[in-house]
Amino acid sequence: MNMELPALKNEILKCTKCELARTRNHVIFGEGNTNAKVMIIGEAPGRDEDMLGRPFVGRSGQLLDKILEACGFNREEHVFISNIVKCRPPGNRVPTTKEAEVCMPWLQKQIDLIDPEILILLGATALKYMAGPDHRITREHGQWLQVNSRWTMPVYHPAAVLRDPSLKRDTWEDYKKIVFKYRELVNPEH
Ligand code: URA
Ligand code: SF4
Repeated sequence: MNMELPALKNEILKCTKCELARTRNHVIFGEGNTNAKVMIIGEAPGRDEDMLGRPFVGRSGQLLDKILEACGFNREEHVFISNIVKCRPPGNRVPTTKEAEVCMPWLQKQIDLIDPEILILLGATALKYMAGPDHRITREHGQWLQVNSRWTMPVYHPAAVLRDPSLKRDTWEDYKKIVFKYRELVNPEH
């Protein structure tokens, strides 16, 4: 079914389309179940991810795993995790508009091939490039959007929740909506 994903992965791992290629140690393709019904989209790999070649393995990743566990999800079975850009911006700066625009076709191909029912957008950068620059995470987290005809939920980035623990309560509420939608669309027994 997803015969083309390994080929896509080979291409992405060799990519030098933007200047982030010059400073990276790894290209972070993403990981999870390539048949998952939920795709999680972050911003960009950080230092830990760049060293290990895997998405969300630092402090944000630990929080993300805790949240997923509370939702009854795990990386192997329920989700595929990727990012707006696949190489680390130096010093963990926000990717530039150009970098995001050059890299996004890779993400779009991943979404097309994995074909999830639900997209979770982690934070402002994912929301900006997936839904458009007029969207605001503070205003729209927890509200369903349609992006490319998929149910799409913007939530706070786990790094933002770590910086400001007062965002935790809203974040749990937002993920509860995702679990309800998962029951509705994917598995009523979940
Ligand atoms: N933050 C992100 O947005 N993505 C990662 O992969 C890690 C941290
Ligand atoms: Fe290619 Fe994306 Fe890495 Fe830039 S960030 S080199 S476009 S994979």
